[in-house]
Amino acid sequence: MRMPTRHLLGIESLHPRDISALLDLAESYALLNRSGKTRRDVLRGRTLINLFFEDSTRTRTSFELAGKRLGADVINMSVSTSSVSKGETLLDTAATLNAMNCDLLVVRHKSSGAPALLAQKVDAAVINAGDGMHEHPTQALLDALTIRRHKGTLEGLTVAICGDIAHSRVARSNILLLTAMGSTVRVVGPPTLIPSGIEQFGVTIHHDMADGLRGADIVMALRLQTERMSGGLIPSAREFFTFYGLDAAKLAHARPDALVMHPGPMNRGVEIDSQIADHATRSVIREQVEMGVAVRMAVLDVLARTATPNA
Ligand code: NCD
Repeated sequence: MRMPTRHLLGIESLHPRDISALLDLAESYALLNRSGKTRRDVLRGRTLINLFFEDSTRTRTSFELAGKRLGADVINMSVSTSSVSKGETLLDTAATLNAMNCDLLVVRHKSSGAPALLAQKVDAAVINAGDGMHEHPTQALLDALTIRRHKGTLEGLTVAICGDIAHSRVARSNILLLTAMGSTVRVVGPPTLIPSGIEQFGVTIHHDMADGLRGADIVMALRLQTERMSGGLIPSAREFFTFYGLDAAKLAHARPDALVMHPGPMNRGVEIDSQIADHATRSVIREQVEMGVAVRMAVLDVLARTATPNA
């Protein structure tokens, strides 16, 4: 397959056909990873730079692992150790990276649109690893792969995305992907954490967990993104847990075989109860992390094929 564009900036630019093809390729990488084999020929001689202006554990390490498993040279740049902390602008940083002839640039930034801006200025294929409250496309792809492996399809499923929808790029990318693939998406949370106009994305709004989770196939809990909140949008973490924290009693409203998901990092006892997060049969949170590597391998592979290699 080839991507419709040389970059992956969001789910918005992908056709359902592209999403299915990416998931199929990711599935083959998931099987390869489990067998312990690698395919170092795929990105041999290519350079991948991880440019993270925001903290990350899972996403950065998983892009690093994905790049290395495919044979790329991987460089990690974090803001605190780069010239960005000396006041260099995003575009100066881009020019520097460009001069190094990098092929794949993975970017996380607190501002929505920063990866799109970089994509206009660099020759490398740019992958959005999370920009502000906008999009996090590889997270939505890895969530979709995890769901598809358990449910066999994305079509006709009911997915409840719970908690801090307003500040979540994960929610946004998931809503775009899941609705495009034929799932029914509900967003569940207090009015202060549900952005106005979200119905335009084809979701229904629920302020009560029992109502939002009723009959759901998938329950996705999101972290309270306090770093993006200004002012008190929730009375307290404790009160939030009482009404919106995913525990056994609230999960009982979903289907008996409903899967529990969380993109991480988790705040146990705030948006999710430990017993549910670690549940042996219901929680697929660890599998999400595993699928993250496979999905990023698929994305890197396809983008490297789509882009013109550096001379
Ligand atoms: C998410 C992110 O950074 O958007 N985490 C992740 O990539 N796994 C969600 C979050 O920070 O809560």
